Amino acid sequence: MPSNDSCAPLIALRDLHLSFADTRVLRGIDLDVQRGQAVSIIGPSGSGKSTLLRCITGLLRPQRGQIRVGDTAVHELRSDAEFIALRKRVGFVFQQYNLFPHLSVLENLTIAPCKVLGRERREAQDEARRLLGKVRLEHKEHAYPGELSGGQQQRVAIARALAMRPELILFDEVTSALDPETVGEVLRTIRELIEEGMTCVLVTHEMRFAEEISDAVYFTEHGVIVEHGSPRQLFNEPRSPRTRAFLQHALGRGERERRPLVPAGAAAR
Ligand SMILES: Nc1ncnc2c1ncn2[C@@H]1O[C@H](COP(=O)(O)OP(=O)(O)OP(=O)(O)O)[C@@H](O)[C@H]1O
Ligand SMILES: [Mg+2]
Repeated sequence: MPSNDSCAPLIALRDLHLSFADTRVLRGIDLDVQRGQAVSIIGPSGSGKSTLLRCITGLLRPQRGQIRVGDTAVHELRSDAEFIALRKRVGFVFQQYNLFPHLSVLENLTIAPCKVLGRERREAQDEARRLLGKVRLEHKEHAYPGELSGGQQQRVAIARALAMRPELILFDEVTSALDPETVGEVLRTIRELIEEGMTCVLVTHEMRFAEEISDAVYFTEHGVIVEHGSPRQLFNEPRSPRTRAFLQHALGRGERERRPLVPAGAAAR
């Protein structure tokens, strides 16, 4: 029975379990994302972050648990048509931009809206140009991906996701492959989307960015959510020694000296 409850989370994961053969990758994940929220997932390599995002898009099916995106019970979907309908609603931006190398920037942005959504070519092109303006690449519509910097390609990939008018976007370490100079321009684009109210889930190693833009942060390790909370709480007063150890490592020395991590409850004294 569809619910019209506007307070219901847009994404709700309940007790997700997923194994690859003998490897238990997700071991009981619960996660909620409200409409309009930005939620970051942080954690060590191999902790299951990408696997979790793939479950939300239906690319992977958990052995146990529930995944809801709006009124859709993703764990119950069966047919290709149902999965295609889901993926129209859920944008996904990867570390490796996955642009079509033989298509121009403009064509990369219009191919799916025309072929999958059946939009008129002219209308799709107008929308694509508007989106290229949004990611500050209006002058690159005729370029091919190979002629762009990593940061520019990633912004094209974000514009391409937006061209489908998704309800939410998942970002999987979208700045990890970039030169430090181009990371900032991609983060700026994501920040603007969040400010406009796009629902975003970000797997990221950019701790400062996660702290700044997130409504909630989840820390995962070995396929479980060790803890989650507001960025202020999680980054400044982590409850778990595991979170604290991870942040000590991830934030690096300079950051630690500026703002030492203290045990929960010991901060405001
Ligand atoms: N298709 C697959 N087949 C078998 N094992 C897999 C598959 N995909 C992922 N794994 C394993 O599942 C575990 C979690 O992988 P996942 O990619 O979700 O980690 P992650 O948290 O995204 O790591 P990273 O930060 O390095 O991207 C790893 O041990 C990985 O080797
Ligand atoms: Mg990953």
